[in-house]
Amino acid sequence: MGPEKKVIWITGASSGIGEALAYEFNKKGAHLILSSRRPEELERVKIACENPDESVRILPLDLADTQSLNAKTKEALSMFGSIDMLINNGGISQRAYAVNTSMETVRRIMEVNFFGTIALTNAVLPHMIEQNSGHIVVISSVMGKIGTRYRSAYAASKHALHGWFDCLRQEVYEHDIDVSLVCPGFVKTNVTVNALTGDGDKYNKMEKAQKSAMPADEFAKKLLPKLAKKKEEIYIGGSEILSVYVKRLSPRLLNMILKKVQVT
Ligand SMILES: NC(=O)c1ccc[n+]([C@@H]2O[C@H](COP(=O)([O-])OP(=O)(O)OC[C@H]3O[C@@H](n4cnc5c(N)ncnc54)[C@H](OP(=O)(O)O)[C@@H]3O)[C@@H](O)[C@H]2O)c1
Repeated sequence: MGPEKKVIWITGASSGIGEALAYEFNKKGAHLILSSRRPEELERVKIACENPDESVRILPLDLADTQSLNAKTKEALSMFGSIDMLINNGGISQRAYAVNTSMETVRRIMEVNFFGTIALTNAVLPHMIEQNSGHIVVISSVMGKIGTRYRSAYAASKHALHGWFDCLRQEVYEHDIDVSLVCPGFVKTNVTVNALTGDGDKYNKMEKAQKSAMPADEFAKKLLPKLAKKKEEIYIGGSEILSVYVKRLSPRLLNMILKKVQVT
């Protein structure tokens, strides 16, 4: 079944990939609940959608405030009466060597990317189990499959998502709930601008790889048909995606290559 009138809850919908997914699902006639911390940015995305009053609601939340997510889920359920798809997209990246990254920064990245994501998923799951259907989507990263310099805590948070959601997939299969882990390569968004340095400040720079990367709307267009097929693991990006396959073939070869290449 297509996304028409399906209720889709997207986190990180105020920017980048989440915003692009909102527009793409809106065009297909879905009902949307848009979440992130900044209500004014969510409002901006809402009014850029077609039929916003009828088909889009905003629900500000902070993924790091895991205690609040049960109440937020109740609110989300009251908006259209159901949740058919949860897109766990909200997240933050890192630009610092491990040795220079404070434990506070590591915990902050884990809190948003991992604990926030699994807490929200656990809050939504009882409803999906009751309705015996649902699709949980997780925007991981190529960094959920491999590791490169400057991203130790970020890669750890994304790898952790693969462990957790691979287990969950087996547990919810009998309730007709699907789990899709999505691994983008470089996508042109503010992800590096918003990334944390070792002491937790904003990195505030857009790297070259990001500037010349795939636009977010193109990424969203490529993702929708793969989600419609309920694919379990999805890779979308440029040549950096090859690293996932090289690692499968030979982790040693990938590490040899990564030690030599310039990474920003
Ligand atoms: N762009 C890439 O190259 C790339 C590659 C691989 C994976 N990804 C993943 O794609 C996802 C989206 O990132 P993006 O590239 O679109 O970057 P982005 O433009 O920086 O968007 C990040 C989104 O996450 C939200 N967010 C951040 N902290 C939050 C919190 N504590 N609570 C709730 N929402 C929060 C932000 O909204 P507020 O500031 O309003 O809260 C924003 O909407 C992330 O999970 C990222 O790891 C991106």
